[in-house]
Amino acid sequence: MLIEQDKQWIEETVQKIIQKMDWVSEKSKHKIPYTTIDGVHNDQSNMEGISWWTNGFWGGMMWLMYHETGNEKYAEVARISEEKLDQCFINYYGLHHDVGFMYLPTAVADYRIKKNAESKKCGLHAANLLAGRFNPIGKFIRAWNDHPGSDNSGWAIIDSLCNLPILYWATEETKDPRFKHIAMMHADTAMEVFIRPDGSSNHIVEFDSEHGGVVKTYGGQGYENGSSWTRGQTWALYGFMMSYIHTGKIEYLNTAKRVAHYFIANIPESGFIPIDFRQPKEPAWEDSTAAAIAASGLIEIAKHVGEYEKDMYLNAAVKLLKALEEKRCNWTEKNDCILENCSAAYHAKEHHFNIIYGDYFFMEAMLKLKGDDLFIW
Ligand code: GLY
Repeated sequence: MLIEQDKQWIEETVQKIIQKMDWVSEKSKHKIPYTTIDGVHNDQSNMEGISWWTNGFWGGMMWLMYHETGNEKYAEVARISEEKLDQCFINYYGLHHDVGFMYLPTAVADYRIKKNAESKKCGLHAANLLAGRFNPIGKFIRAWNDHPGSDNSGWAIIDSLCNLPILYWATEETKDPRFKHIAMMHADTAMEVFIRPDGSSNHIVEFDSEHGGVVKTYGGQGYENGSSWTRGQTWALYGFMMSYIHTGKIEYLNTAKRVAHYFIANIPESGFIPIDFRQPKEPAWEDSTAAAIAASGLIEIAKHVGEYEKDMYLNAAVKLLKALEEKRCNWTEKNDCILENCSAAYHAKEHHFNIIYGDYFFMEAMLKLKGDDLFIW
């Protein structure tokens, strides 16, 4: 249960978000940001960057703000990035398993909120592309596209669980159950082969794309094979929760809870989440995006379990968000992003920078705590 002190903190933090988004939305109106360079949003909306998997989150942030404030300027900015994303369908080759991340917070959100018919068409187009990546013999949705000289046709990743909601939405819209069946077959495979008995998750599983069956696993963006990439744990936690919300299949809720229990048990005293729960102690690299995504997913679990259980999930979410708000948020005008110490991958050259989906999930989680949820997924 949220105590009075928490409620005051939530109110104050949401006010800080509104104040920051008021000027950032004007300043970055014509951009699709991923990160910052010297505190200024970069722009992914050129030809090379337009299909980048995070390009839906800026539009999503604008819809969150529209929902919170009712100010039409946010709908206008959201539509600028939504229109730019149409180019991806023409390019085609750049698109991938992350079309849910791209089109749920943009086109589908626009359709859900404003009933924009063109947006519905784009959402369905994206859902069809995702459904087209399903491998029926291995019962998984294929990740990424081939890199020159490599065959990735058997690769599936835990991240895809958070893209499945675009398939559920397509079935809800069209009444054609094919999309939902594909999503559930992928989720069932993920329950079986990605989630380990202790509730941790693999990042990448390679299947035999011709005959089915698991070939091997990879550590992917985490520390090593068999380790526990924290953002991957959060895609599992949030993704299974969404599969439960859309289908009512109790195994998905139980799996989301199992992953959540593992995650909660591993939250350090500080509340700052490492890139991998099994990384060496030094360097102490963090990933604030994992903390924000986990918090938002934990709040979702809290909404769907009984009174007796819900405080455990809610308290963990509040701990993560308070740690971020107190020490990892930049509320000044010197930086266009909010969250600091975000990291894309353990073995990447750079760590601890701004990443747009960190801001998105932090905002989403805070607004959920306030009770002003906007259903994006
Ligand atoms: N979906 C890719 C990532 O989480 O980095």
